[in-house]
Amino acid sequence: MDYKFTSRNENDTLELAQNIESEKFPNMVICLNGELGTGKTVFVKGFAQALGLTETITSPTFNIVKEYEMGELPLYHMDVYRLDEKKDTIGILDYFHKGGVTIIEWADLLNDELPEERLEIEFRFVDENTRVLVFKPYGKIYEDVCSSVL
Ligand SMILES: Nc1ncnc2c1ncn2[C@@H]1O[C@H](COP(=O)(O)OP(=O)(O)O)[C@@H](O)[C@H]1O
Ligand SMILES: [Mg+2]
Repeated sequence: MDYKFTSRNENDTLELAQNIESEKFPNMVICLNGELGTGKTVFVKGFAQALGLTETITSPTFNIVKEYEMGELPLYHMDVYRLDEKKDTIGILDYFHKGGVTIIEWADLLNDELPEERLEIEFRFVDENTRVLVFKPYGKIYEDVCSSVL
């Protein structure tokens, strides 16, 4: 089952991410898709804040992965937009079972490499401050996350 959430402003997206963080578990994988400027990085910021991270989160566009180890669980923030085809994917897959939470911007670009069980969130631009987020849970544990948060 898919779930929809309408975000009316940046704060709604931050809060939603914080609510999902409250359902976190080791090896959680969250895949974010949607055009530039739809709020993927804002979501990661909300999640990171809830983990207790005080560092500034910026998109890891050039280094692909940023690791934050100081929160309640490690956070691996990826932006695979500039991933050079197969060349770099090998190291990336290891993160899915290192015990932290992995959040991937532009995850669709990894298609076949994604774990079978994951939460996908598609960000759709509606107008300047409105976004529709479509949640697709793959696997029972992610179904449960969605039904408790949404
Ligand atoms: N409802 C909303 N949710 C998230 N961001 C929003 C929203 N409305 C406006 N914004 C703005 O849109 C931009 C989203 O940027 P960002 O998170 O970097 O996008 P992406 O990572 O998807 O490219 C920010 O400037 C943010 O303030
Ligand atoms: Mg981004």
